[in-house]
Amino acid sequence: MKSAKIEKGINGIINIPGDKSISHRSIIIPSISNGVCEVSNILKSEDVINTLNAFRALGVKFEETKEKLIVYGKGINSLKKSSDNIYLGNSGTSARLLIGLLASQKFDSVLTGDSSLSSRPMERIVNPLNLMNAKIDTNSGKMPIKIYGNDLKNTEIEIDIPSAQIKSGLILAALNTKGKTKIIEKHTTRNHTEIMLESFEANIDLKKNDNKTEIIIIGKKELTPKNIDVPADLSSSAFFIVAALINKNSEITLKNININPTRNGILIALKKMGANIEIINNRFINNENVADLKVKSSQLNGCELDEDIAKLMIDEYPIISIAAAFANTPSVFKGLKELRVKESDRLNLIKINLEKCGCNCKIENDNLFINPIEKLNINNQNIQTDFDHRIAMSFLVMGSRLGELYIEKSDSIKTSFPNFVEEFNRAGGNIY
Ligand code: S3P
Repeated sequence: MKSAKIEKGINGIINIPGDKSISHRSIIIPSISNGVCEVSNILKSEDVINTLNAFRALGVKFEETKEKLIVYGKGINSLKKSSDNIYLGNSGTSARLLIGLLASQKFDSVLTGDSSLSSRPMERIVNPLNLMNAKIDTNSGKMPIKIYGNDLKNTEIEIDIPSAQIKSGLILAALNTKGKTKIIEKHTTRNHTEIMLESFEANIDLKKNDNKTEIIIIGKKELTPKNIDVPADLSSSAFFIVAALINKNSEITLKNININPTRNGILIALKKMGANIEIINNRFINNENVADLKVKSSQLNGCELDEDIAKLMIDEYPIISIAAAFANTPSVFKGLKELRVKESDRLNLIKINLEKCGCNCKIENDNLFINPIEKLNINNQNIQTDFDHRIAMSFLVMGSRLGELYIEKSDSIKTSFPNFVEEFNRAGGNIY
């Protein structure tokens, strides 16, 4: 797929699909609730469909209408053994959350994934689950994974790696574990699981102390079904926000965007760079903070982002790096170790591909230094994506300002934003 320079900017009201993290949870949590839930605006992307198929295989009934997904929950301890291995494609969120959930069920399961997911670390969720007496075999810490369903032991677990996936996997394990499980999170990460479980009346208590959060769960309480309206995805919006900022004559509106403060680092960072982003109609839907955003072309400055903000915008480094390439001054983004174990080694791919576009970059101790592009350097460059959707979309945005880029393996986009190209072109983009 190629992306070429545009002249008239990115404009109009953009349709951003449902939030990916909340969509996964809108299948998982209703499936183990005690009744029927209606979910509106769920993201129908490959990753989320893999979660849906997993729960179908585990005996949950779903009905799909044009507007809604209806989930017939089976209760906390009544999923059924899948007759086949459960294939999760590219989706790390499905894998980490399901490993936790299935560890406490009463049957065995095998989880598999595509080549990217099969190369990602799973011991980060398996090791803490072992403290609860989980029985899990891995392929040297990776997929495929065999989970031997077991009665888990409640305990206290401190999570060292900043990861909402690890935290959520442990919370799901604790829901079906007798007694009190205490999970201590040292760094704030996205809290969609906690918010949804509170509304489903789980026995979950949160105690916050600076950056540390204690999550206390008393297991074996059935969840009360609730209807969910999934807000639009800020991570998907970020591609349009940056495209509008770096292209002259742009003005876009994005509606109903999830701006949960554990996820909104990209807005804080771009504002620090001088972005013209207006946040209006700030409100709450299903206890998630939602707002509309208005974005206009802006001359950006470079900025320094420290390790703390990384946890609040971990998926947005590929796209903010494109913004940094067009800023007035250099940028440094610190503490990006986790970027190495995403759908690809994102840290390395950002550097390799920015350099192909004429940007001078350096990685030192997991910190990324970006010098703005001085001389436009495009020669039909091939962008290496390693089937990573966020690298692909970021460099499609880069092409809209820089000139023709060829994006390899761009099919990955359907894992999170199936109609990205259509929407980008409708707003003035030139992808073909
Ligand atoms: C996610 C958490 C993040 C993020 C991923 C979605 C989630 O991963 O990168 O895209 O839905 O919990 P980590 O929590 O492993 O950093």
